[in-house]
Amino acid sequence: MKKEVLDQRGQKIDHIKDYESDGFIRTWSIHIPEETASELDKVFKTTWINTGKKEKEFRNKVCDMFGAKHAVACNSGTAGLKAAYTSLGIGPGDEVVTTPYSFIATNTAILEVGATPIFADIEYDTLNIDPKSIREKITDKTKAINCVHFGGLPVNLTEIRKIGAEFGLPIIEDSAHALGSKYKGDYIGAKGDMVMFSFQVVKVVTCGDGAIVCTDNEKYYNNLKKTIWYGIDRETKKADPLDPLPDDITELGFKMNMNDITATIGCVAMDHLQEQLVKRKEIGERYRRELSGLNKLTLLNYSEDSEPNYQLFPVHIQDREKFANYMFERGIQVNVNNRRNDKYTIFGGVREDLVNTAKVDEDCILIPMHTHLTDGDVTKIITTIKEYDKI
Ligand SMILES: Cc1ncc(COP(=O)(O)O)c(C=O)c1O
Repeated sequence: MKKEVLDQRGQKIDHIKDYESDGFIRTWSIHIPEETASELDKVFKTTWINTGKKEKEFRNKVCDMFGAKHAVACNSGTAGLKAAYTSLGIGPGDEVVTTPYSFIATNTAILEVGATPIFADIEYDTLNIDPKSIREKITDKTKAINCVHFGGLPVNLTEIRKIGAEFGLPIIEDSAHALGSKYKGDYIGAKGDMVMFSFQVVKVVTCGDGAIVCTDNEKYYNNLKKTIWYGIDRETKKADPLDPLPDDITELGFKMNMNDITATIGCVAMDHLQEQLVKRKEIGERYRRELSGLNKLTLLNYSEDSEPNYQLFPVHIQDREKFANYMFERGIQVNVNNRRNDKYTIFGGVREDLVNTAKVDEDCILIPMHTHLTDGDVTKIITTIKEYDKI
């Protein structure tokens, strides 16, 4: 039977929701810059809050900052992924080789277009999809490769792009965690077929809910524009009061566009990206220095090619449940962010050949990482982990 664990207030830990855990050092937090309200007020005073100038400004900001060629803005990362698959023409009967270790949205988006996720194994030391395993999973039905820069740590893009080129497969980078991460000196998004950034509440910068999909491919860009708005490129709308829509609509699209209220929050947040990255890096590097060489905790392996944004700080820990209880009892929230996706019936149930995924599913946990952590909080987290390491 599970041990009943109480928090500092005497409440059963099982019953504490993420948003109720005030008084704890939380695993994540949100950052809304102060001037957001006044910027929103300006937009409210205009006569236009639908997709418009601010949405365009947001897309341009992301392209300029990361050196991306094209971008569309969507109302969520999940929608952005569905738009990416739809725009690549992926549908029923097709397979996408993908990671099983991610938030479920990575793979429900594949199901949403009627295709089948084929799970490759991950690398134990990075939590990212293993290029060797991708190769083994490619069949005649494979139409794309999906990878997630888990926690903001870039995947081995050189190898994955090589496989994509060899088999003629586009690569979808689910970069929900990787805003501001770099690979071999380039920002994630600078290059790539489809690169989706999520701006959901706990991301490095947020606009509440929303996403940007970048691409350096003109054809994919044109498809994306139509996919996210009823099969119509909004910029081709006519100034005709009697019929603003094109004469014909030939492909089905969805309602996935971002409005100017959301984009305004996103624009302000993007202006604060660098300071968010600096603070996260400071905390992340301190963790890496002071938590190395422990017996029960193992850090991930950050290769020289990859510069993470420290969206998350996952570690491997022995005796995970005991560790989680130990930390909670001392006022520190830790979290198992996601479970191996293949375990869910919608994805067909547990695959036996995903050896590293199985291990990670048992021993991976997130320790707090966000910009509201004080030096004192970080010291307490490190000290508590070191105490746990000794028992
Ligand atoms: C890896 C990953 N992909 C996709 C998503 C979905 O993004 P959104 O919540 O913006 O729909 C998330 C959300 O957290 C995620 O973590």
